[in-house]
Amino acid sequence: MKLTLADILNWLCETDARRLRELWERADRVRREHVGNAVHLRGLIEISSFCDRSCLYCGLRMPNREVLRYRMSAEEILQAARAAGERGYGTIVLQAGEDPGLDIDALGQVIARVKRESALAITLSLGERSEEELRALKNAGADRYLLRFETSHASLFDQIHPLKPAEPPGQRWALLSCLRELGFELGSGVMIGLPGQRLEDLAWDVEWFRRWDLDMIGVGPFIADPQTPLGAMPLSNRAENALQVQGDEVTTCKVIALARLVCPRANIPSTTALATINPERGQRLGLERGANVMMPNFTPAKYRRAYAIYPQKAGSRCTVEESDRSARDCLAALGRPVASGRGDSPAMERRRATSSRTLEASYRAE
Ligand code: 5AD
Repeated sequence: MKLTLADILNWLCETDARRLRELWERADRVRREHVGNAVHLRGLIEISSFCDRSCLYCGLRMPNREVLRYRMSAEEILQAARAAGERGYGTIVLQAGEDPGLDIDALGQVIARVKRESALAITLSLGERSEEELRALKNAGADRYLLRFETSHASLFDQIHPLKPAEPPGQRWALLSCLRELGFELGSGVMIGLPGQRLEDLAWDVEWFRRWDLDMIGVGPFIADPQTPLGAMPLSNRAENALQVQGDEVTTCKVIALARLVCPRANIPSTTALATINPERGQRLGLERGANVMMPNFTPAKYRRAYAIYPQKAGSRCTVEESDRSARDCLAALGRPVASGRGDSPAMERRRATSSRTLEASYRAE
């Protein structure tokens, strides 16, 4: 039965442990039925910590002088990609701040080379880039793009994302459409517990996951970083509003579970941010409550700590071997197998099949 916006909000407000168990079980069942038991591993490579944005929550924001800036060379990216391929991964994710110094042609060449050398799928997560750049990256062979909309509450979004000079507002939604039209598998998501965010806003976020029919949905708790304006805000400012969403484990799991119910075929990771707020059980809980993807970190150890989106990020002191091992141990403990192959989006497959059926039907009707 279709979950209405009111149902979504009711679940977000639910505190009864017995009812919540129903939600977890339902999400887990829908996950099993639509995307199976196997969990896809995606190798995350954080290719640049430079960023020319000033998002109020993010440790990589340009005005933060405490953060070390690095940009991986083509050779370093290739090596990290090969390491993921050798460990049997089907996908690498290349992520960076909005780095104006990122050479898009050179990155396109790296992408083309990875595609020539291996069967790896490539996901990009490079923030807001121009349509021209996105098209070039798609043509080079990139398969998927992650761009979280962070919150669907327009004025909250605008408050925490200062525009660059001469930048038109509302860019992000336009870019999501553009990515879809370019043929990327589309990933998006939100942070949970942003100061000023209410449960109603979160319900709309989930509704937008459905309306976009997202291929990938990444959600995680907002983690206050004292080196950012939002993180430095005194707690009282954030907590005084009774409607304020808490960026805790249960709320995050509710959003993962609801994302699974509204987008049964999406690939949904159990995120690093969830592992950060609960190092022992966070990642595992996500997988038990709707998620089917993990993204172990393949960034070379020497750069890892510099990619500090927020403090105490899980895995920031680990080596590649340790990140890979801890994901596999987690899956072994859960009794869930590691998936083989690229793990393309079942949601996209279905969209394609449905639209060709619709086309066929319209030809027949003519
Ligand atoms: N807490 C949690 N998540 C954060 N991100 C950025 N800063 C923070 C923070 N302080 C998330 C954003 C972004 C993703 C790469 O990391 O959602 O899209």
